[in-house]
Amino acid sequence: MSFIRETEEYLIKLLSSLGYELDNVVLESSSRRDLGEFQINVAMNLAKKYGKNPREIAQNIVDNLDDRFESVNIAGPGFINVSINKEKLLDKMNKSIDNFDELIDKQEKKTIIIDYGGANAAKALHVGHMRSANIGESLKRLAKVLGNNVIGDVHIGDLGRQSGMVISEIKRRKPELCFFDPNYKGKYPKLDITPEELSVYYPTASKDAKENPDRMEEVRQITAWVDEGREPYFSMWKDIVEVSGNDIKHVYNYLNCNFELWEGELSSLKYIEPTLKVLDPYMYESEGAKVIDVKKDDDKIEVPPLIVIKNDGASIYATRDLATIYNRVKTYNPDEIWYVVDSRQSLYFEQVFRASYKSGLVKKECALNHYGFGTMNGKDGKPFKTRDGGVLELNSLLTLVKEELTKRMNKYDNEEEKNDILDKLTVATVKYADLSPTRTTDYIFDIEKFCSFEGKTGPYILYTMVRINSILNKSNLNDIEIKQIYSDTEKDIYIKLLELSRVLNKSYSEKTLSYICEFLFDICSLFNKFYGETNIINESDIDKKNTYLSMLKLVYNTCEQLLDILAIKIPNKM
Ligand code: ARG
Repeated sequence: MSFIRETEEYLIKLLSSLGYELDNVVLESSSRRDLGEFQINVAMNLAKKYGKNPREIAQNIVDNLDDRFESVNIAGPGFINVSINKEKLLDKMNKSIDNFDELIDKQEKKTIIIDYGGANAAKALHVGHMRSANIGESLKRLAKVLGNNVIGDVHIGDLGRQSGMVISEIKRRKPELCFFDPNYKGKYPKLDITPEELSVYYPTASKDAKENPDRMEEVRQITAWVDEGREPYFSMWKDIVEVSGNDIKHVYNYLNCNFELWEGELSSLKYIEPTLKVLDPYMYESEGAKVIDVKKDDDKIEVPPLIVIKNDGASIYATRDLATIYNRVKTYNPDEIWYVVDSRQSLYFEQVFRASYKSGLVKKECALNHYGFGTMNGKDGKPFKTRDGGVLELNSLLTLVKEELTKRMNKYDNEEEKNDILDKLTVATVKYADLSPTRTTDYIFDIEKFCSFEGKTGPYILYTMVRINSILNKSNLNDIEIKQIYSDTEKDIYIKLLELSRVLNKSYSEKTLSYICEFLFDICSLFNKFYGETNIINESDIDKKNTYLSMLKLVYNTCEQLLDILAIKIPNKM
């Protein structure tokens, strides 16, 4: 448990023993470090509550504080300034070197399903999918670190117009295939198709269908056949989804995104029937479609009815989300389901959630939450586009970043090693940039800035880590103990580490990784300051040198855990 939480629990007990009852006491970080590292600001509230003089209450508290604090003083109307006792601080830091849990607070264990990733089969991943993957993966890791049981589901978009597009393109290019022969009587073979073919089929068909209504009609027809499971289209599509899925997995792997479940719209089809049974009493017919009313009296914006079944009887995106919920509840009985999906889908999720609660598909004890995110923009402030104005594919973005980083890299004899370092740097660059802004804000992707080895960037953090690691590797540290505090900077590092629990709790409650990114930058900056002030390797005092190296280990191990939450891997050298 963290020092802060432990102390806050202690303070509640202490106050109660002095006759003051409070549900919650905050050990605040102080901006007046000269007066103390922390503040306890309860005296003013208690004074109001108990009709007493705040300074008297503060004095009473101070007189009874245990030895975890030193240089305790009272300022102004009753602010209590405290510093953590040095022995206690060193003890906490030493315990934390190999045990991250000493710095953080676990939570009451919950089962959480996180729906993130959401790539669409047979279409290239674009930069918008990257945000979902990065934020979702890191929120998942954070929730796990804090003690929850978390299941990530990629929820692949493997049904929809793209099926009709791709199959109609195959028909154009390979009309001789047996799938398109109405007189074919044999068993259909597996469809032979490559990721390279897929990458051109969808865009070609989509462009043609936009210009040509007959082509669009054909696409619609095939899509409907796939949706209703008609052969050979349904099996063809499943083969396409498989090939495309392998390709998508490759990209997610590169980004260190690992999904516990590889489900999607297609796999939800088998739950549609039981789902519709649950929804049936709440659905009514409107213009041939089946819908559920989901508006509420106090809505500030219009929330239209949710269409569950289209007028042609087919299922849609929403039907599959509802069926997926049905299965998730039945199979995992989760306490919470999170959707890490673009903010532009927020009204849609509101409709789906309301329909789920209204129909009893989900009990009210299970929280359904949409955690949307802003868009990644180009320098012009508009959604990131390619030079010719198209949507930027994720792979192209990764290539651009890798090229930019290559320019800044040292010479390496070993090409393989260089490439591995570059890949790790690329991932760190895009992740750190993507996770640093508050989740809901749009941000500008500035390649030069994000690839820089200075400032709030992935390369800066990794560079610092590699620096620490190389010092540790050069020196043999056998007596791991922080024995003393020799400088203000060291103390600043330790106090910063004590604040980590708060950073993680805040990140978790607001579902944003920005605080963790900020913390990493702060701690790396403090370390680099220390590095500039201290000659670690040549220190002749053995105790001093061991202390320095132990501190380095503490910083490295802690940052390694935090980088792991961000799904960023550290290279051995750079
Ligand atoms: N495939 C969707 C898209 O690209 C995202 C899926 C989000 N998850 C969900 N359960 N609807 O927009």
